[in-house]
Amino acid sequence: MQITVKIKRFDPEKDKRSRWTEYRLEANPMDRVLDVLNEIKWEQDGSLSYRRSCAHGICGSDAMLINGVNRLACKVLIKDLGNDIAIEPIRGLPVEKDLIVDMESFFDSYEAVLPYFINDDPVPAGERLQSPEEREIFDASTKCILCACCTTSCPVFWVNGRYLGPAAIVNAHRFIFDSRDRGTDQRLEVLNQPNGLWRCRTAYNCTEACPRDIPVTKAIEDVKRVLLWRTS
Ligand code: SF4
Ligand code: F3S
Ligand code: FES
Repeated sequence: MQITVKIKRFDPEKDKRSRWTEYRLEANPMDRVLDVLNEIKWEQDGSLSYRRSCAHGICGSDAMLINGVNRLACKVLIKDLGNDIAIEPIRGLPVEKDLIVDMESFFDSYEAVLPYFINDDPVPAGERLQSPEEREIFDASTKCILCACCTTSCPVFWVNGRYLGPAAIVNAHRFIFDSRDRGTDQRLEVLNQPNGLWRCRTAYNCTEACPRDIPVTKAIEDVKRVLLWRTS
């Protein structure tokens, strides 16, 4: 099929603001957007810049706004988009070049919620066991690939870039609900700050955007409940 791909481009060395550039090419309906971007870069315009790595929905590096929706370029088929495709960088983070954004503040928020196992109890002789039911409680949150599709689709984050954002909260959820972890109070202190958890207005964009089908808004609500119980 013949397709037209409009890409919002920005070169910090030449441009004052972003500009749309249009490319026409032949694509297979089963091609993914990432295949099309590669075709454009390799055959038409080597200066086009975007992140990608695994090409299989695992690394989370190719999140972009495709026809107005945050998605991973390697997981979207051309047949599901039609002949006219518009691609922009994810919103709310500074654009470095073309589809590449500066993810530093996103990872700062992730780091702030202490996304690692905390437990100073004496080391047991065997493993720290957990039942399948206890594991199930935070199973979905372990699937996060830190792609930022959720945080950069959140209207609260668009107007306040200091909001911790859904991705950080999902990763706090992953440890708060782990029966072996003891760092809940430390994490809740971070989440209870002015730009933390309570900024969420349950817009649900994050849940719709997640390529791993994580129930992001539910995870946020679960953490809100824990915080309420602890402080009431
Ligand atoms: Fe991506 Fe989903 Fe993790 Fe958000 S919660 S960063 S959308 S994988
Ligand atoms: Fe934003 Fe998701 Fe809350 S889109 S407002 S973090 S439910
Ligand atoms: Fe790794 Fe798409 S390139 S998730």
